[in-house]
Amino acid sequence: MESPSPFATDFVWGVATASYQIEGAYDEDGRSMSIWDTFSRVPGAIDNGDTGDVACDHYHRWRQDFDLLDELGVNAYRFSIAWPRVIPGGTGAVNSKGLDFYSALVDDLLERGVTPFVTLYHWDLPQAMQDRGGWPSRDTAYAYADYAAVVVKALGDRVTNWTTFNEPLCSAWLGHLEGSMAPGIKDIKAAVPAGFHLHLAHGLGMQVIRAEATLPPHAGIVVNLSPTAAATDRPEDIAAAVRADGHTNRWWLDPLFGRGYPQDMVECYGVEPPVQGNDLETIAQPLDYLGVNYYFREVVVDDPAKGGPRVSGVRVPGAVETHMGWEVYAKGLEDILVRVAEDYQPAEIYITENGSAFPDVVEADGSINDVGRVNYLVDHVEAVAAATRRGAPIKGYFAWSLLDNFEWAYGYDKRFGIVRVDYRTQERTIKASGRKYAEIIADHQAAAKA
Ligand code: IFM
Repeated sequence: MESPSPFATDFVWGVATASYQIEGAYDEDGRSMSIWDTFSRVPGAIDNGDTGDVACDHYHRWRQDFDLLDELGVNAYRFSIAWPRVIPGGTGAVNSKGLDFYSALVDDLLERGVTPFVTLYHWDLPQAMQDRGGWPSRDTAYAYADYAAVVVKALGDRVTNWTTFNEPLCSAWLGHLEGSMAPGIKDIKAAVPAGFHLHLAHGLGMQVIRAEATLPPHAGIVVNLSPTAAATDRPEDIAAAVRADGHTNRWWLDPLFGRGYPQDMVECYGVEPPVQGNDLETIAQPLDYLGVNYYFREVVVDDPAKGGPRVSGVRVPGAVETHMGWEVYAKGLEDILVRVAEDYQPAEIYITENGSAFPDVVEADGSINDVGRVNYLVDHVEAVAAATRRGAPIKGYFAWSLLDNFEWAYGYDKRFGIVRVDYRTQERTIKASGRKYAEIIADHQAAAKA
Protein backbone atom coordinates (compact mmCIF):
# COMPACT_ATOMS: atom_id res chain seq x y z
CA MET A 1 0.00 0.00 0.00
CA GLU A 2 1.55 3.33 -1.09
CA SER A 3 -0.24 5.73 1.27
CA PRO A 4 -2.57 5.46 4.27
CA SER A 5 -5.81 3.67 3.48
CA PRO A 6 -8.69 5.98 2.53
CA PHE A 7 -11.16 3.19 3.34
CA ALA A 8 -13.21 3.19 6.56
CA THR A 9 -12.98 0.38 9.13
CA ASP A 10 -16.36 -0.96 7.94
CA PHE A 11 -15.26 -1.09 4.28
CA VAL A 12 -16.67 -4.19 2.60
CA TRP A 13 -14.05 -6.50 1.06
CA GLY A 14 -15.70 -9.29 -0.85
CA VAL A 15 -15.65 -11.75 -3.68
CA ALA A 16 -18.46 -12.31 -6.17
CA THR A 17 -19.94 -15.25 -8.08
CA ALA A 18 -23.12 -16.01 -10.02
CA SER A 19 -25.43 -19.01 -9.90
CA TYR A 20 -25.22 -20.35 -13.45
CA GLN A 21 -21.46 -19.83 -13.59
CA ILE A 22 -20.62 -22.00 -10.58
CA GLU A 23 -23.51 -24.13 -9.31
CA GLY A 24 -23.87 -26.95 -11.84
CA ALA A 25 -26.56 -29.43 -10.70
CA TYR A 26 -28.64 -28.07 -13.53
CA ASP A 27 -31.39 -30.66 -13.24
CA GLU A 28 -31.29 -31.45 -9.52
CA ASP A 29 -33.82 -30.91 -6.76
CA GLY A 30 -36.48 -29.50 -9.04
CA ARG A 31 -34.43 -26.87 -10.92
CA SER A 32 -35.83 -26.21 -14.39
CA MET A 33 -34.03 -25.18 -17.56
CA SER A 34 -32.88 -21.58 -17.82
CA ILE A 35 -32.23 -19.65 -21.02
CA TRP A 36 -28.52 -20.39 -20.50
CA ASP A 37 -29.13 -24.15 -20.37
CA THR A 38 -30.91 -23.77 -23.68
CA PHE A 39 -28.40 -21.38 -25.26
CA SER A 40 -25.40 -23.46 -24.23
CA ARG A 41 -26.91 -26.36 -26.19
CA VAL A 42 -27.07 -24.33 -29.42
CA PRO A 43 -24.24 -25.63 -31.64
CA GLY A 44 -21.48 -23.02 -31.89
CA ALA A 45 -22.96 -20.67 -29.28
CA ILE A 46 -20.34 -21.42 -26.60
CA ASP A 47 -16.62 -21.96 -27.11
CA ASN A 48 -15.71 -25.62 -27.00
CA GLY A 49 -19.39 -26.59 -26.65
CA ASP A 50 -19.17 -25.98 -22.88
CA THR A 51 -22.31 -25.80 -20.71
CA GLY A 52 -23.02 -24.92 -17.08
CA ASP A 53 -24.35 -28.42 -16.37
CA VAL A 54 -21.60 -29.17 -13.85
CA ALA A 55 -19.57 -25.92 -13.73
CA CYS A 56 -17.72 -25.77 -10.38
CA ASP A 57 -20.19 -28.17 -8.78
CA HIS A 58 -20.68 -25.51 -6.14
CA TYR A 59 -24.18 -26.88 -5.46
CA HIS A 60 -22.48 -29.83 -3.76
CA ARG A 61 -19.19 -28.23 -2.72
CA TRP A 62 -20.32 -24.92 -1.30
CA ARG A 63 -19.09 -25.61 2.26
CA GLN A 64 -15.57 -26.23 0.98
CA ASP A 65 -15.88 -23.09 -1.17
CA PHE A 66 -16.93 -21.06 1.84
CA ASP A 67 -13.81 -22.26 3.69
CA LEU A 68 -11.94 -20.34 0.99
CA LEU A 69 -13.74 -17.16 2.06
CA ASP A 70 -12.26 -17.61 5.53
CA GLU A 71 -8.80 -18.21 4.09
CA LEU A 72 -9.00 -15.08 1.96
CA GLY A 73 -10.19 -12.99 4.90
CA VAL A 74 -13.09 -11.39 3.01
CA ASN A 75 -15.97 -10.01 5.04
CA ALA A 76 -18.64 -10.26 2.31
CA TYR A 77 -19.77 -12.69 -0.38
CA ARG A 78 -21.87 -11.65 -3.36
CA PHE A 79 -23.83 -14.44 -5.06
CA SER A 80 -26.96 -14.78 -7.14
CA ILE A 81 -30.13 -16.80 -6.82
CA ALA A 82 -31.26 -18.99 -9.71
CA TRP A 83 -34.91 -18.18 -10.45
CA PRO A 84 -35.34 -21.65 -12.10
CA ARG A 85 -34.44 -23.30 -8.79
CA VAL A 86 -36.95 -21.27 -6.81
CA ILE A 87 -39.91 -21.07 -9.22
CA PRO A 88 -39.20 -23.65 -11.92
CA GLY A 89 -42.19 -22.64 -14.01
CA GLY A 90 -41.18 -18.97 -13.90
CA THR A 91 -44.48 -18.17 -12.18
CA GLY A 92 -46.57 -20.25 -9.83
CA ALA A 93 -45.41 -23.10 -7.63
CA VAL A 94 -42.42 -22.48 -5.36
CA ASN A 95 -39.77 -25.20 -5.12
CA SER A 96 -38.89 -25.37 -1.43
CA LYS A 97 -35.68 -27.32 -2.15
CA GLY A 98 -34.42 -24.37 -4.18
CA LEU A 99 -35.07 -21.95 -1.35
CA ASP A 100 -33.56 -24.38 1.18
CA PHE A 101 -30.29 -24.37 -0.75
CA TYR A 102 -29.94 -20.59 -0.61
CA SER A 103 -31.16 -20.46 2.96
CA ALA A 104 -28.38 -22.84 3.97
CA LEU A 105 -25.81 -20.67 2.18
CA VAL A 106 -27.00 -17.60 4.05
CA ASP A 107 -26.94 -19.32 7.45
CA ASP A 108 -23.46 -20.63 6.89
CA LEU A 109 -22.13 -17.25 5.73
CA LEU A 110 -23.58 -15.53 8.77
CA GLU A 111 -22.05 -18.13 11.07
CA ARG A 112 -18.68 -17.38 9.50
CA GLY A 113 -19.13 -13.62 9.95
CA VAL A 114 -19.31 -13.10 6.17
CA THR A 115 -22.05 -10.69 5.04
CA PRO A 116 -24.22 -12.02 2.21
CA PHE A 117 -24.94 -9.72 -0.76
CA VAL A 118 -27.76 -11.39 -2.66
CA THR A 119 -28.38 -10.72 -6.35
CA LEU A 120 -31.86 -11.75 -7.46
CA TYR A 121 -31.07 -12.00 -11.16
CA HIS A 122 -27.79 -12.74 -12.89
CA TRP A 123 -29.07 -13.76 -16.33
CA ASP A 124 -30.56 -17.23 -15.73
CA LEU A 125 -34.16 -16.55 -16.72
CA PRO A 126 -36.36 -19.67 -16.52
CA GLN A 127 -36.82 -21.00 -20.05
CA ALA A 128 -40.55 -21.12 -19.26
CA MET A 129 -40.53 -17.30 -19.10
CA GLN A 130 -38.62 -17.08 -22.38
CA ASP A 131 -41.23 -19.29 -23.97
CA ARG A 132 -43.82 -16.71 -22.90
CA GLY A 133 -41.90 -13.81 -24.47
CA GLY A 134 -38.91 -13.25 -22.16
CA TRP A 135 -37.70 -9.74 -21.35
CA PRO A 136 -39.24 -8.11 -24.44
CA SER A 137 -42.59 -8.87 -22.75
CA ARG A 138 -43.93 -6.69 -19.93
CA ASP A 139 -45.31 -9.76 -18.14
CA THR A 140 -41.77 -10.90 -17.36
CA ALA A 141 -41.28 -7.80 -15.18
CA TYR A 142 -44.35 -8.71 -13.11
CA ALA A 143 -43.26 -12.34 -12.89
CA TYR A 144 -39.85 -11.16 -11.66
CA ALA A 145 -41.52 -9.07 -8.93
CA ASP A 146 -43.46 -12.13 -7.73
CA TYR A 147 -40.29 -14.23 -7.75
CA ALA A 148 -38.43 -11.48 -5.85
CA ALA A 149 -41.19 -11.44 -3.21
CA VAL A 150 -40.81 -15.19 -2.65
CA VAL A 151 -37.05 -14.92 -2.14
CA VAL A 152 -37.18 -11.80 0.02
CA LYS A 153 -39.87 -13.32 2.26
CA ALA A 154 -37.74 -16.45 2.69
CA LEU A 155 -34.36 -14.80 3.30
CA GLY A 156 -35.20 -11.26 4.37
CA ASP A 157 -35.06 -12.19 8.06
CA ARG A 158 -31.29 -12.72 7.66
CA VAL A 159 -30.21 -10.93 4.48
CA THR A 160 -30.06 -7.14 4.35
CA ASN A 161 -28.04 -6.50 1.16
CA TRP A 162 -30.12 -6.99 -1.98
CA THR A 163 -29.36 -6.42 -5.63
CA THR A 164 -32.26 -6.50 -8.07
CA PHE A 165 -30.25 -7.14 -11.25
CA ASN A 166 -26.72 -7.74 -12.39
CA GLU A 167 -25.71 -5.87 -15.56
CA PRO A 168 -29.06 -5.38 -17.33
CA LEU A 169 -26.98 -4.06 -20.25
CA CYS A 170 -25.71 -7.57 -20.98
CA SER A 171 -29.19 -9.12 -20.88
CA ALA A 172 -30.53 -6.46 -23.24
CA TRP A 173 -27.66 -5.58 -25.58
CA LEU A 174 -25.70 -8.85 -25.66
CA GLY A 175 -28.76 -11.09 -25.34
CA HIS A 176 -31.15 -9.25 -27.67
CA LEU A 177 -29.09 -6.97 -29.94
CA GLU A 178 -25.75 -8.71 -30.52
CA GLY A 179 -27.07 -12.22 -29.89
CA SER A 180 -23.82 -13.34 -28.26
CA MET A 181 -25.57 -14.24 -25.02
CA ALA A 182 -28.81 -15.99 -24.15
CA PRO A 183 -31.40 -15.88 -25.57
CA GLY A 184 -29.35 -15.10 -28.71
CA ILE A 185 -31.64 -12.55 -30.38
CA LYS A 186 -30.26 -9.89 -32.77
CA ASP A 187 -32.93 -7.23 -33.05
CA ILE A 188 -32.92 -3.68 -31.69
CA LYS A 189 -36.73 -3.81 -31.69
CA ALA A 190 -36.51 -6.62 -29.11
CA ALA A 191 -33.47 -5.20 -27.29
CA VAL A 192 -34.99 -1.82 -26.37
CA PRO A 193 -38.17 -3.32 -24.85
CA ALA A 194 -36.07 -5.99 -23.10
CA GLY A 195 -33.90 -3.30 -21.51
CA PHE A 196 -36.97 -1.30 -20.55
CA HIS A 197 -38.65 -4.27 -18.86
CA LEU A 198 -35.43 -5.02 -16.98
CA HIS A 199 -35.50 -1.44 -15.69
CA LEU A 200 -39.19 -1.76 -14.81
CA ALA A 201 -38.61 -5.07 -13.05
CA HIS A 202 -35.81 -3.44 -11.09
CA GLY A 203 -38.18 -0.70 -9.88
CA LEU A 204 -40.86 -3.24 -8.98
CA GLY A 205 -38.21 -5.36 -7.28
CA MET A 206 -37.05 -2.42 -5.14
CA GLN A 207 -40.65 -1.90 -4.00
CA VAL A 208 -41.05 -5.59 -3.22
CA ILE A 209 -37.80 -5.74 -1.25
CA ARG A 210 -38.85 -2.75 0.84
CA ALA A 211 -42.32 -4.21 1.41
CA GLU A 212 -41.36 -7.80 2.18
CA ALA A 213 -37.99 -7.84 3.97
CA THR A 214 -38.09 -8.41 7.72
CA LEU A 215 -34.73 -6.74 8.39
CA PRO A 216 -34.35 -3.17 7.11
CA PRO A 217 -33.05 -3.71 3.58
CA HIS A 218 -30.08 -2.09 1.88
CA ALA A 219 -31.03 -2.43 -1.78
CA GLY A 220 -29.71 -1.39 -5.16
CA ILE A 221 -28.80 -2.51 -8.66
CA VAL A 222 -25.52 -3.46 -10.34
CA VAL A 223 -24.60 -1.89 -13.67
CA ASN A 224 -21.50 -2.45 -15.76
CA LEU A 225 -19.97 0.84 -16.84
CA SER A 226 -17.06 1.90 -19.02
CA PRO A 227 -15.61 5.30 -19.73
CA THR A 228 -15.64 5.86 -23.48
CA ALA A 229 -13.10 7.62 -25.69
CA ALA A 230 -12.77 8.36 -29.41
CA ALA A 231 -9.94 6.49 -31.12
CA THR A 232 -9.10 9.57 -33.23
CA ASP A 233 -9.93 13.27 -33.18
CA ARG A 234 -12.17 12.96 -36.25
CA PRO A 235 -15.55 14.59 -35.45
CA GLU A 236 -17.36 11.36 -36.46
CA ASP A 237 -15.36 9.37 -33.91
CA ILE A 238 -15.87 11.97 -31.20
CA ALA A 239 -19.63 11.74 -31.85
CA ALA A 240 -19.32 7.93 -31.78
CA ALA A 241 -17.75 8.10 -28.31
CA VAL A 242 -20.75 10.12 -27.10
CA ARG A 243 -23.08 7.45 -28.52
CA ALA A 244 -20.99 4.68 -26.94
CA ASP A 245 -21.36 6.48 -23.62
CA GLY A 246 -25.11 6.68 -24.21
CA HIS A 247 -25.32 2.98 -25.07
CA THR A 248 -23.14 1.70 -22.22
CA ASN A 249 -23.64 4.21 -19.42
CA ARG A 250 -26.39 6.83 -19.77
CA TRP A 251 -29.07 4.47 -21.11
CA TRP A 252 -28.81 2.45 -17.91
CA LEU A 253 -28.11 5.18 -15.37
CA ASP A 254 -30.39 8.04 -16.47
CA PRO A 255 -33.73 6.23 -15.86
CA LEU A 256 -32.51 4.90 -12.50
CA PHE A 257 -31.83 8.45 -11.36
CA GLY A 258 -35.13 9.90 -12.59
CA ARG A 259 -33.91 11.38 -15.87
CA GLY A 260 -35.82 9.14 -18.26
CA TYR A 261 -34.15 7.70 -21.37
CA PRO A 262 -31.50 9.80 -23.16
CA GLN A 263 -33.19 11.31 -26.21
CA ASP A 264 -30.07 11.16 -28.40
CA MET A 265 -30.03 7.38 -28.00
CA VAL A 266 -33.78 6.95 -28.57
CA GLU A 267 -33.20 8.73 -31.90
CA CYS A 268 -30.09 6.69 -32.63
CA TYR A 269 -31.91 3.37 -32.05
CA GLY A 270 -35.10 4.54 -33.74
CA VAL A 271 -37.06 2.62 -31.11
CA GLU A 272 -39.00 4.13 -28.19
CA PRO A 273 -38.99 2.23 -24.87
CA PRO A 274 -42.59 1.06 -24.26
CA VAL A 275 -43.23 3.29 -21.22
CA GLN A 276 -46.72 3.20 -19.73
CA GLY A 277 -48.30 5.38 -17.01
CA ASN A 278 -45.92 6.13 -14.16
CA ASP A 279 -43.31 3.53 -15.19
CA LEU A 280 -40.48 6.06 -15.12
CA GLU A 281 -41.26 6.85 -11.48
CA THR A 282 -41.36 3.14 -10.66
CA ILE A 283 -37.92 2.69 -12.24
CA ALA A 284 -36.45 5.63 -10.32
CA GLN A 285 -36.96 4.18 -6.82
CA PRO A 286 -34.41 5.67 -4.44
CA LEU A 287 -31.32 3.45 -4.37
CA ASP A 288 -29.51 2.69 -1.13
CA TYR A 289 -26.44 2.06 -3.26
CA LEU A 290 -25.30 1.72 -6.84
CA GLY A 291 -23.20 -1.32 -7.71
CA VAL A 292 -20.60 -0.68 -10.42
CA ASN A 293 -18.89 -3.48 -12.32
CA TYR A 294 -15.77 -2.40 -14.19
CA TYR A 295 -13.50 -4.32 -16.52
CA PHE A 296 -12.27 -2.02 -19.33
CA ARG A 297 -12.80 1.29 -21.10
CA GLU A 298 -14.21 1.56 -24.61
CA VAL A 299 -12.12 3.20 -27.33
CA VAL A 300 -14.36 3.54 -30.39
CA VAL A 301 -14.76 4.69 -33.97
CA ASP A 302 -17.85 5.64 -35.92
CA ASP A 303 -19.29 2.60 -37.72
CA PRO A 304 -22.46 3.46 -39.66
CA ALA A 305 -22.81 -0.16 -40.83
CA LYS A 306 -23.21 -1.40 -37.25
CA GLY A 307 -26.61 -1.72 -35.56
CA GLY A 308 -27.62 -0.10 -32.28
CA PRO A 309 -25.20 2.67 -31.36
CA ARG A 310 -23.33 2.51 -34.71
CA VAL A 311 -19.87 2.29 -33.13
CA SER A 312 -17.04 -0.22 -33.18
CA GLY A 313 -14.47 -0.78 -30.48
CA VAL A 314 -10.80 -0.70 -31.50
CA ARG A 315 -7.72 -2.12 -29.84
CA VAL A 316 -5.32 0.37 -28.31
CA PRO A 317 -1.83 -0.07 -29.82
CA GLY A 318 0.68 -1.26 -27.23
CA ALA A 319 -1.93 -1.80 -24.51
CA VAL A 320 -1.64 -4.71 -22.09
CA GLU A 321 -4.66 -6.96 -22.68
CA THR A 322 -6.25 -9.77 -20.71
CA HIS A 323 -7.14 -13.17 -22.14
CA MET A 324 -10.51 -11.65 -23.12
CA GLY A 325 -8.68 -9.15 -25.33
CA TRP A 326 -9.78 -6.38 -22.95
CA GLU A 327 -7.38 -3.49 -22.39
CA VAL A 328 -6.00 -3.26 -18.85
CA TYR A 329 -6.78 0.33 -17.90
CA ALA A 330 -7.11 0.93 -14.14
CA LYS A 331 -7.44 4.70 -14.54
CA GLY A 332 -10.79 4.00 -16.23
CA LEU A 333 -12.13 2.69 -12.93
CA GLU A 334 -11.13 5.84 -11.07
CA ASP A 335 -12.60 7.98 -13.88
CA ILE A 336 -15.96 6.21 -14.06
CA LEU A 337 -16.38 6.19 -10.27
CA VAL A 338 -15.69 9.92 -9.98
CA ARG A 339 -17.93 10.68 -12.95
CA VAL A 340 -20.85 8.65 -11.55
CA ALA A 341 -20.41 10.21 -8.12
CA GLU A 342 -20.45 13.72 -9.58
CA ASP A 343 -23.12 13.31 -12.28
CA TYR A 344 -25.62 11.07 -10.48
CA GLN A 345 -24.74 11.49 -6.77
CA PRO A 346 -25.63 7.97 -5.57
CA ALA A 347 -25.76 7.69 -1.77
CA GLU A 348 -23.22 4.86 -1.82
CA ILE A 349 -21.19 3.02 -4.44
CA TYR A 350 -19.87 -0.53 -4.31
CA ILE A 351 -17.52 -1.95 -6.90
CA THR A 352 -19.51 -5.16 -7.20
CA GLU A 353 -17.22 -6.81 -9.76
CA ASN A 354 -13.71 -6.20 -11.01
CA GLY A 355 -11.23 -8.74 -12.23
CA SER A 356 -9.30 -10.23 -15.11
CA ALA A 357 -8.93 -13.42 -17.11
CA PHE A 358 -5.45 -14.72 -17.84
CA PRO A 359 -4.31 -18.13 -19.11
CA ASP A 360 -2.88 -19.45 -15.85
CA VAL A 361 0.07 -21.80 -15.67
CA VAL A 362 0.16 -24.45 -12.95
CA GLU A 363 3.74 -24.85 -11.70
CA ALA A 364 5.27 -28.25 -10.95
CA ASP A 365 4.49 -27.73 -7.25
CA GLY A 366 0.84 -26.98 -8.06
CA SER A 367 1.08 -23.25 -7.39
CA ILE A 368 -0.29 -20.59 -9.76
CA ASN A 369 1.79 -17.44 -9.98
CA ASP A 370 -0.72 -15.31 -11.88
CA VAL A 371 1.32 -12.12 -12.11
CA GLY A 372 -0.99 -10.47 -14.65
CA ARG A 373 -3.99 -10.87 -12.36
CA VAL A 374 -1.99 -9.73 -9.30
CA ASN A 375 -0.98 -6.54 -11.10
CA TYR A 376 -4.52 -5.95 -12.31
CA LEU A 377 -5.88 -6.35 -8.78
CA VAL A 378 -3.31 -4.09 -7.14
CA ASP A 379 -3.73 -1.33 -9.72
CA HIS A 380 -7.52 -1.43 -9.64
CA VAL A 381 -7.76 -1.37 -5.84
CA GLU A 382 -5.43 1.64 -6.01
CA ALA A 383 -7.83 3.22 -8.54
CA VAL A 384 -10.69 2.70 -6.08
CA ALA A 385 -8.60 4.36 -3.38
CA ALA A 386 -7.87 7.28 -5.72
CA ALA A 387 -11.59 7.73 -6.50
CA THR A 388 -12.35 7.61 -2.78
CA ARG A 389 -9.78 10.34 -2.13
CA ARG A 390 -11.52 12.39 -4.82
CA GLY A 391 -14.80 12.14 -2.91
CA ALA A 392 -16.66 9.18 -4.44
CA PRO A 393 -18.77 7.52 -1.66
CA ILE A 394 -17.29 4.04 -2.09
CA LYS A 395 -18.25 1.52 0.56
CA GLY A 396 -16.92 -1.76 -0.77
CA TYR A 397 -15.03 -3.76 -3.40
CA PHE A 398 -15.77 -7.29 -4.66
CA ALA A 399 -13.19 -9.18 -6.67
CA TRP A 400 -14.54 -11.10 -9.65
CA SER A 401 -14.36 -13.95 -9.10
CA LEU A 402 -13.93 -16.27 -6.16
CA LEU A 403 -13.55 -19.23 -8.53
CA ASP A 404 -12.67 -19.88 -12.14
CA ASN A 405 -16.07 -20.51 -13.66
CA PHE A 406 -18.30 -20.76 -16.73
CA GLU A 407 -17.53 -17.53 -18.56
CA TRP A 408 -20.72 -17.50 -20.63
CA ALA A 409 -20.09 -17.65 -24.39
CA TYR A 410 -16.37 -18.22 -23.70
CA GLY A 411 -16.97 -21.36 -21.68
CA TYR A 412 -14.30 -22.54 -19.25
CA ASP A 413 -11.27 -21.39 -21.22
CA LYS A 414 -11.32 -17.88 -19.75
CA ARG A 415 -10.36 -17.97 -16.09
CA PHE A 416 -11.31 -15.04 -13.82
CA GLY A 417 -10.87 -16.80 -10.46
CA ILE A 418 -8.52 -15.80 -7.68
CA VAL A 419 -8.92 -19.49 -6.87
CA ARG A 420 -8.18 -22.03 -9.60
CA VAL A 421 -10.65 -24.79 -10.36
CA ASP A 422 -9.33 -27.96 -11.95
CA TYR A 423 -12.46 -28.99 -13.84
CA ARG A 424 -11.34 -32.62 -14.09
CA THR A 425 -11.01 -33.13 -10.34
CA GLN A 426 -12.89 -30.07 -9.02
CA GLU A 427 -9.83 -29.32 -6.91
CA ARG A 428 -9.52 -25.69 -5.75
CA THR A 429 -6.16 -23.90 -5.40
CA ILE A 430 -5.74 -20.34 -4.19
CA LYS A 431 -3.70 -18.43 -6.78
CA ALA A 432 -1.06 -15.81 -6.04
CA SER A 433 -3.78 -13.21 -6.74
CA GLY A 434 -5.93 -14.72 -3.98
CA ARG A 435 -3.00 -14.50 -1.55
CA LYS A 436 -2.36 -10.93 -2.67
CA TYR A 437 -6.01 -10.02 -2.14
CA ALA A 438 -5.85 -11.40 1.41
CA GLU A 439 -2.77 -9.24 2.01
CA ILE A 440 -4.42 -6.12 0.53
CA ILE A 441 -7.46 -6.61 2.76
CA ALA A 442 -5.37 -7.15 5.89
CA ASP A 443 -3.17 -4.13 5.14
CA HIS A 444 -6.10 -1.80 4.53
CA GLN A 445 -7.96 -3.04 7.58
CA ALA A 446 -4.89 -2.53 9.77
CA ALA A 447 -4.32 0.95 8.35
CA ALA A 448 -7.98 1.90 8.82
CA LYS A 449 -7.81 0.92 12.50
CA ALA A 450 -4.51 2.69 13.14
O1 IFM B 1 -18.35 -13.36 -15.76
C1 IFM B 1 -18.93 -12.11 -15.95
C2 IFM B 1 -20.04 -11.86 -14.96
O2 IFM B 1 -21.01 -12.85 -15.00
C3 IFM B 1 -20.69 -10.54 -15.22
N1 IFM B 1 -19.72 -9.49 -15.29
C4 IFM B 1 -18.57 -9.69 -16.14
C5 IFM B 1 -17.91 -11.01 -15.80
C6 IFM B 1 -16.66 -11.23 -16.69
O3 IFM B 1 -17.02 -11.23 -18.03
